[in-house]
Amino acid sequence: MSWKKEVLTKCSTHQVKTFSMNSNRETPIEIGKEEFKKIGYKLIDKIANFIDTIDKKPVTNGESPLQLQKILGNSPLPEKGAPAEEILTKTSELLINHSLLNGHPKFLGYITASAAPIGALADLLAASVNPNVGAQILSPIATEIEKQTVKWLTEFIGVSQNYGGILVSGGNMANFTGFLAARTAKAPKNIKEEGISNASAKLVIYCSRTTHTWVEKAAILFGLGSKSIRWIQTDMANKMNNEVLEKTIKEDIKNGSRPIMVIGTAGDVSTGAVDNLKEIAKICKTYNLWFHVDGAYGIPAIVIPKYKKLFDGIKEADSVALDPHKWLYSPLEAGCTLVKDPQHLIDTYSTHPEYYNFSKNEEELTQNYYEYGLQNSRGFRALKVWLALQQAGRSGYAKMINDDIELSELLFELAKAHPELEAITQNLSITTLRYVPLDYKQNTNNNKESYLNTLNEALLNELQQGGEVFLSNAIVLGKYCLRGCIVNFRTSKKDIEEILEIIVREGKKMHRKLQEK
Ligand SMILES: Cc1ncc(COP(=O)(O)O)c(C=O)c1O
Repeated sequence: MSWKKEVLTKCSTHQVKTFSMNSNRETPIEIGKEEFKKIGYKLIDKIANFIDTIDKKPVTNGESPLQLQKILGNSPLPEKGAPAEEILTKTSELLINHSLLNGHPKFLGYITASAAPIGALADLLAASVNPNVGAQILSPIATEIEKQTVKWLTEFIGVSQNYGGILVSGGNMANFTGFLAARTAKAPKNIKEEGISNASAKLVIYCSRTTHTWVEKAAILFGLGSKSIRWIQTDMANKMNNEVLEKTIKEDIKNGSRPIMVIGTAGDVSTGAVDNLKEIAKICKTYNLWFHVDGAYGIPAIVIPKYKKLFDGIKEADSVALDPHKWLYSPLEAGCTLVKDPQHLIDTYSTHPEYYNFSKNEEELTQNYYEYGLQNSRGFRALKVWLALQQAGRSGYAKMINDDIELSELLFELAKAHPELEAITQNLSITTLRYVPLDYKQNTNNNKESYLNTLNEALLNELQQGGEVFLSNAIVLGKYCLRGCIVNFRTSKKDIEEILEIIVREGKKMHRKLQEK
């Protein structure tokens, strides 16, 4: 029963304050059990229907920000609350009807996976229990689940189970986490106190020209500066030229710089090429450099026996970035950093303020994740990865990843055989191709390449707005290409065939339009 009571609080010397509130507290944000069930079941019904019919919807409506702002309205911050059921119903309609659907079977853009439905349920469960996985005392079982997830990921990619690691928000953060561990391990020890500007020699790092943009952000943000990056040229297969790498390291040492790390890429963002990791590992050993592998996209393919060799050398990596929200089909956000000697993470990230009572006591198995990465309070993103790994198992993942690769090969082969398409590259599950009108196939005039670039860029923009298929772009040896990356367990052979028909149909139209101009 709720009753109002006046409470007078007295301190020894004077009367301080009068409190007036219900003894049973009522808040505008709690949802009672029956209401939660009613709203929750309704939402789950909607989501189940959304997933079930996702292939019937357009990938995108192509609505402009202005159109969306009109739909959303511009009401000010609400002064008064509204019923949860009403706002959730409105919001689910808003999201389902006005989103770009990366779970659509014809979404092959960038590197964003169709999200495993079990991940949605996992996020609901994680948010309901809401463990803070920054410290074990605040997340007893969640910490153990994250530890097991990290261990399973080491097994998945075939490195030693002595690697330790942490779940982070995505590929950028996974690489940053490894980058900072490398800096701590290989830069002069006094930079922790003195700062990087006091390092006696310029710190330099090495990576191929195809390396994802995270590296530039890291060099700028973490004090090395973008000029510390030695962008090593690639060979015809888009792999880092390791002869040039070694030569550059030698020159830097001779000139008084201090090399600290080499980044190998296991599946480059544009074409999916995998560097020769074994050779890079050898070079790192010779010059005592940290060997970091950016496997954010490609490393899960190691689970397929016939691709294992492609990743030879991964076991030598000091750190590896991988990204469950890419090829392990986790919903956003889930990345992971694995480090050969996890003590490097603790050396980099651990602090012990007096207000933390998280010490390990005698129990050495305690693990406080705030000591392993940049975050302090942390959500339970491991749960969705852990559950999906159990749902599909290693063999289920091997099958899905292998199918993605075969579909990508099919896309390449069909493009190669088509008179109006040019297949450009195919690695892992990334294919690049371009539309070449029949009258340009034999054409040798000087403007041919420039025209084809203009045509394919315009075509890509048209396709991205059209809603039938979503591809992204890559520039390969100066050619503007359409790029399909299949990290999508919903894509089928039929989708690939239809996608090519759409490209050719829209390509013809765009060519005609440009010719008329
Ligand atoms: C090779 C590689 N590294 C890092 C990233 C960044 O990942 P995220 O977008 O999850 O931060 C990407 C993204 O596509 C990538 O392909």
